[in-house]
Amino acid sequence: MVKVAPSILSASFNNLALEIDNVVKAGADLIHLDVMDGIFVPNVTFGPLIYKDIPRYEGVEFDAHLMVTQPEKNIHSFLESGLDRISIHAESTDHLHRLLQMIRNHQIKPAVALNPATPLAAVKWVLEDLDMVLIMSVNPGFGGQSFLKGMLGKIERLKEMIQQQGLTVEIEVDGGVCPDNIRDVVNAGADIVVAGSAVFGKPDYAEAIRALKNH
Ligand code: DX5
Ligand code: ZN
Repeated sequence: MVKVAPSILSASFNNLALEIDNVVKAGADLIHLDVMDGIFVPNVTFGPLIYKDIPRYEGVEFDAHLMVTQPEKNIHSFLESGLDRISIHAESTDHLHRLLQMIRNHQIKPAVALNPATPLAAVKWVLEDLDMVLIMSVNPGFGGQSFLKGMLGKIERLKEMIQQQGLTVEIEVDGGVCPDNIRDVVNAGADIVVAGSAVFGKPDYAEAIRALKNH
């Protein structure tokens, strides 16, 4: 069954711990943390301090998506903050492989994120060093945008690449995922879907997560 990763970008920051608690009780598999620096993307969110006091939950992974330029400059603060997964944008650094190794050395699952226009070739030579590839299905920066249908083919091709190499790399799809397109996204090969507005924008989080899982 597809794993659901609610993005706290669409949660109430004023009640963040409660929002996370509610979404975990509602069946979230991961908690997706969108870190934005205002340079790599035209929006600013938060750094590692925001979740340092949030309790951890058995079986629920904290999944950080770094939308920052030159993540090597402050990667250490993320490596020390108890995250389970860290996604680095291929477009954001000249030292992707080095960063992935640093993440792995901290017993954190390394992942590469790709903007919609970035070809899959950007992950080809690091694929066997990854636990996950994050396919952006909107241009990063904001929640609540519409899913780019052209990304379905990209997800399919990535799945083929992973299978051809006999790897177990997971595919996470991020942006505009909702009950109307979840079936196509999962059929294309998604193992994990990020959902901001499709969960936090709904009154009943459990029902929202169920609607994504029972597509
Ligand atoms: C966009 C973020 C997404 C976003 C998803 O830059 O990476 O994680 O919060 O929000 P929705 O599901 O509303 O598109
Ligand atoms: Zn994200």
